[in-house]
Amino acid sequence: MEKKNIDWSNLGFGYIKTDKRYISLYKDGKWDDGVMSEDDTIKLSECAGVLQYAQTIFEGLKAYTTEQGKIVTFRPDLNASRMKDSAARLEMPVFPEDRFVDAVVKTVRENAAYVPPYGSGATLYLRPYMFGSNPVIGVKPADEYQFRVFATPVGPYFKGGAKPITIKVSDFDRAAPNGTGNIKAGLNYAMSLHAIVTAHKEGFDENMYLDPGTRTKVEETGGANFLFITKDKKVVTPKSNSILPSITRRSLVHVAKEYLGLEVEEREVLFDEVKDFAECGLCGTAAVISPVGKIVDHGKEICFPSGMEDMGAVTKKLYDTLTGIQMGRIEAPEGWIKEIEL
Ligand code: PLP
Ligand code: COI
Repeated sequence: MEKKNIDWSNLGFGYIKTDKRYISLYKDGKWDDGVMSEDDTIKLSECAGVLQYAQTIFEGLKAYTTEQGKIVTFRPDLNASRMKDSAARLEMPVFPEDRFVDAVVKTVRENAAYVPPYGSGATLYLRPYMFGSNPVIGVKPADEYQFRVFATPVGPYFKGGAKPITIKVSDFDRAAPNGTGNIKAGLNYAMSLHAIVTAHKEGFDENMYLDPGTRTKVEETGGANFLFITKDKKVVTPKSNSILPSITRRSLVHVAKEYLGLEVEEREVLFDEVKDFAECGLCGTAAVISPVGKIVDHGKEICFPSGMEDMGAVTKKLYDTLTGIQMGRIEAPEGWIKEIEL
């Protein structure tokens, strides 16, 4: 198969239309068989549930070319399961988990020419999503839905890739106590837009959100969970029921313990403790692990000893091991890698 003529190494995190996308429709209480389509547009009622009341959820995962030249995805079953939880919280029908994985596989296979080559630094980002499509005017769940998956080749989420970023403590909340912070609903990201535009205007790369109840504990950023490294090389990651259960974070916890022999604490993290950590990183599918060099809290700076030039040493080990597993250089735990047969 001939690859598309794309400058893989200079891709940013943007949308590029690819050839095929998966579509399945839900009507009269059931999902249809699903098709692959060349049409990248959607025609909808002006009163569709998604347009009026934001009934939409999504997922994000990647396909990689391994060192051996295979195309693989990373733990798509966990995305399927998280999407099930998101659907339940927004009163949407569940797209069966095995069909979710199958739809991802088909989307990768039919866009194989867009999977960036091994070593290019780029990946194929997959975006499964679901939304209410029939007219809804009283506030209630839709009766009809679309489940779709599209693919787009991407480079690093933050410009500069592995270069440490600077973030600010946000004055806004991204979630509410007992709200929807723990699911992947479009509305959480709409909530974060003013905060991220504000942060960018002020020269920051991202926001650190604190817990909306007490504003004393670290939650996450707009699109990634936090990982901290203590001075004695323990991995600490915030536990909260209003953050997204990151698949990258859960995988890194396993990598830290089982591959690197590090101690891991998943617990509430007070903002007051942050100044004492040695390293900080953001982890997620898009972010992979993006090192944080500095956090600014209303003018007060926390500068991590790892500095503004390089990833901290422990963060780098985590990064190398995780990406090594994803790219086939390091043996993966059972069930983590799903090979796409072409
Ligand atoms: N937190 C938020 C708010 C996110 O949008 C994401 C991205 O999916 C993550 C964390 C990281 O999750 P994952 O590692 O499953 O991509
Ligand atoms: C992902 O990492 O897949 C995400 O969904 C984050 C998103 C904000 C780009």
